[in-house]
Amino acid sequence: MAILVTGGAGYIGSHAARALRRSGYEVVLYDNLSAGFRRLAQGFELVEGDIADEARLRPVLARVDAVMHFAAHAYVGESVENPRKYFRNNVLGALTLLNSALDAGIRRFVFSSSCAVYGVPEQSPIAERTPREPVNPYGASKLFFENALQAYSRAYGLRSVSLRYFNAAGADESGEIGELHDPETHLVPLALAASTPNGPALRIYGSDYPTPDGTCVRDYIHVNDLADAHVRALQYLENGVGEKSGGSLAVNLGTGRGHSVLEVVQAAESATGRPVRRTIGPQRPGDPPILVADPAKAQSVLGWTAKRNLADIVSSAWAWMQKNSSSS
Ligand code: UFG
Repeated sequence: MAILVTGGAGYIGSHAARALRRSGYEVVLYDNLSAGFRRLAQGFELVEGDIADEARLRPVLARVDAVMHFAAHAYVGESVENPRKYFRNNVLGALTLLNSALDAGIRRFVFSSSCAVYGVPEQSPIAERTPREPVNPYGASKLFFENALQAYSRAYGLRSVSLRYFNAAGADESGEIGELHDPETHLVPLALAASTPNGPALRIYGSDYPTPDGTCVRDYIHVNDLADAHVRALQYLENGVGEKSGGSLAVNLGTGRGHSVLEVVQAAESATGRPVRRTIGPQRPGDPPILVADPAKAQSVLGWTAKRNLADIVSSAWAWMQKNSSSS
């Protein structure tokens, strides 16, 4: 069985591609390399193209059985500054991909969604039935596409799983691939970089949140645990269990455990054996105090739970960072 992985040269897509291959699937990566990296696609067939390019997609879709769609812009702050960019790619481009897949006869679709669809929820942990009220264009674009998948499943029999990631972090244990973003804005790589002699100090965004130590709490999930959940989602679609619910499922992917920014800093110090230089700055606009998943549905429907903890996340990210800095 062959799977098209859009955004397969990106951080999460490249890890999912390896997990699929380990499970015996044939994998074709599709990426326009606007945010992806050729080195993350090494060892795989990579078709360079945009998800909005129907002509480019058509022959590729003709030879696969399912789509995993990762290709998206994913900076919350940028989406507020430049919503046009986000709606063009994450909605318009994604719809072109979806329609092309449907036209090619594909009926199985796995989508990278985000906890950003919940906005600033009142309760914690967050279950899937929590109202979806995104507070930025990035979250709105993800919710739009989830809704499209739901409508397509009712109308056209497309079967889909939307996976709502909490905070993806860490790297493949092989050290061959890991987190690469340009610019890097995420806490784990920035905290690790701040422990190196030449790395900039970490700015902690706010220490006056209503949380135990005053810093934001997030649910950090290892990228390979995410990757495994994608394989499970595909198997769920293959087994045909979702028929009754109209065939579209949305599932949180998190550990169910929250960690504060300061706890991540401590984990980074343990992994590197060096202090993380940091300053305390003001809150970053739009950051909710606490985002933690209720992962029960992923366990009951997909049989999936996270296997790796914060220490595993940070140590694998550190191994990747060391290897990456020595090889580049
Ligand atoms: N943080 C800092 N300093 C930094 C970077 C981050 O203190 O330099 C803090 C943030 O305030 C936040 C936590 O570390 O409390 C995690 O921040 P990240 O930027 O690593 O991740 P976000 O929680 O902002 O973003 C994640 C995903 C997005 C998704 C969002 C949903 O990366 O794709 O959750 O809210 F949209």
